[in-house]
Amino acid sequence: MNRLLPNSAGIGLRAPHVTQVLAARPPVAWFEVHSENYFADGGQALAALDRIRADYPLSLHGVGLSLGSTDPLDLRHLAKLKRLADRVLPARVSEHLCWSSVNDRHFNDLLPLPYTSEALDHVCARVSQVQDFLGREILVENVSSYLTFPESTIPEYEFVVAVATRTGCGLLVDVNNIYVNARNHGIDADVYLAAIPPAMVAEIHLAGFDASGPCLIDTHGAPVAPDVWALYERALRRFGRVPTLIEWDTDIPEFAVLQREAATAQSYLEASLAVAA
Ligand SMILES: [Fe+2]
Repeated sequence: MNRLLPNSAGIGLRAPHVTQVLAARPPVAWFEVHSENYFADGGQALAALDRIRADYPLSLHGVGLSLGSTDPLDLRHLAKLKRLADRVLPARVSEHLCWSSVNDRHFNDLLPLPYTSEALDHVCARVSQVQDFLGREILVENVSSYLTFPESTIPEYEFVVAVATRTGCGLLVDVNNIYVNARNHGIDADVYLAAIPPAMVAEIHLAGFDASGPCLIDTHGAPVAPDVWALYERALRRFGRVPTLIEWDTDIPEFAVLQREAATAQSYLEASLAVAA
């Protein structure tokens, strides 16, 4: 089954909730999982995913390909991703526009790129290589960041759009990441949204951040903030109705909390449809 993602609110499915979802089959429009958690040859996790994807549209979201790294693209990682995608036939395959390894050292962070023409050439070549290898279009996601590089010459939003323009990939627009970067770096979030052609946007992410320190940290460990819901509403006004995912990765709450967040996203989606009509 290779269903498209519905233009509805989905939930990022994490290990603590898999048993409950398999038992109760809750009414969730679609699920997204982290690809790397299912790279094993077999085992319980993959068997569970086979059952999930039989009942729900599924999206594969990568966190470890290190698309922007200067190391050679990890072809073993890519081969595992292709094997998984060929098995579960996801509606979407996405990765982050970032780097997370150098000189064969891997980090658990999605690190920002310098936004230069050289980095753009580099990352576009790698996105094309990934798409050729997988035999499908991927989505790339804008990341949150806590620093900028003095070498950057291109606004982040122009860089992100240029990657999609040059490679034909789609965009996974993380509205929370736009908000976090706008606050951390003094970018105008509405200018960012206005720069993105609606036709490129295939998916939206929403998550919560930590505001207790000197800058916003994208923890995926809190409810979506009111200002991010407001920005999401403006994003839907610009992009139209887009499949939207609730992500929660630290201090993972009861599944019902995620369902409530998804229900809120769904109400924004419904309202955007009413405005469009
Ligand atoms: Fe995200």
